Amino acid sequence: MNDLPPALPHWEQTPADLPVAIKEIKAALRERIAASGRTVEEVVAVLERQLTAEVEEIEAARDRGEPVWPVIDYADIAAGTVDPAAVDQLRRRGCAVVRGQFEHDRAREWDRELVDYVDRNGFFDQYRGPGDDFFASVGSKPEIYPIYWSRPQMEARQSDEMAQVQAFLNGLWRHESDGVQWFDPGRDSLYPDRIRRRPPGASSAGLGSHLDPGTLDLWMTREYQRAFRHLFDGSVERYDPWDAAHRTTGPQYPGTTMCSVFRTFQGWTALSDMAPDQGVLHTVPIPGAMAYLMLRPLLADVPDDDMCGVTINRTFPVTERWHPLLRRALTGIPAVRAGDSVWWHCDLIHSVAPVEDQQGWGNVMYIPAAPWCPRNERYAARVREAFASGSSPDDFPAEHYERAWADRFGADDLNETGRRGLGLA
Ligand SMILES: [Fe+2]
Repeated sequence: MNDLPPALPHWEQTPADLPVAIKEIKAALRERIAASGRTVEEVVAVLERQLTAEVEEIEAARDRGEPVWPVIDYADIAAGTVDPAAVDQLRRRGCAVVRGQFEHDRAREWDRELVDYVDRNGFFDQYRGPGDDFFASVGSKPEIYPIYWSRPQMEARQSDEMAQVQAFLNGLWRHESDGVQWFDPGRDSLYPDRIRRRPPGASSAGLGSHLDPGTLDLWMTREYQRAFRHLFDGSVERYDPWDAAHRTTGPQYPGTTMCSVFRTFQGWTALSDMAPDQGVLHTVPIPGAMAYLMLRPLLADVPDDDMCGVTINRTFPVTERWHPLLRRALTGIPAVRAGDSVWWHCDLIHSVAPVEDQQGWGNVMYIPAAPWCPRNERYAARVREAFASGSSPDDFPAEHYERAWADRFGADDLNETGRRGLGLA
């Protein structure tokens, strides 16, 4: 890999002194961009013009009542007949709803079965409150259930329907370059995550707009510096949010809300019907907005030791103070039905709207697209252990409710996709 001078300092583990490291990397990035003959201010101005046009287009579509989130029928994905215009739209927006990925009745049945599973095993008596404060819910009953190994979750993760949709979404990415296959688009690593069950009448403050792929490591580790090479060397027009090069190999700084794996898309599968005004997911449907988030801290109005509020062990905040233009584009999902799935590019800014006295249930299984790659293979070894013992996976609080539950999904229930996903094939 060609490293343009001047070389950037990098920290493969969390720097001991964050303010010092932030000052150092910001000065080095400004210097490197300046070496291209353009100032940071010029580069950011180019981005602001592009992004303003996209934000205005999204606002106008919303004002006209047009859908902003692409909606794609699962049947078309399965048959390979997705309209190329829909694929283009998905590439532009970086998010989509897949309609009818699972039969409505099957998804409703999964929801009932999850309730049976936790009831039978006395989960509500054992529940000790939220294991982290990230998704803290009010009251003694959880909304986020730290449950990973139920039959419905595993059945969905290893299903043909999931594999087809994940392969379709992975296919939007450039996964091979410079003689390296950065990930295998046809093999998912079955990233185990939790479920959410938010009951009728619930009130929730929602989640502020944020980003999931990392924190300071996005600027400070060598592999991310290579992944974002065009942002950091002044050639910002060449930045491609769909290029996986160097995203699947490097380390991540540990933290309580981290995700160890590379995900092409975040996702969840709906287990109940949800109306768009009932505290649902919103995104800024512009994958290229990442460029702005990465370069905005380099402008002179941000203190030298500040990355617009990004720091380790906290989610990457996207705020009115530093990113007001982007937040104008926050757009909620359309109405979804049980069995639909919802997907957003791993770099998309997202939030969950607040809700008072929610109408209907808001139930989902979090299942992303996390294709096989060196980073995900490393994590899969830990997932296999958690699967065998019924433990909470390493990325999550060590709550381990399911260890003693006899009726969790077992090794004998794995199909070929499941075995491959866990690295057992
Ligand atoms: Fe998130």
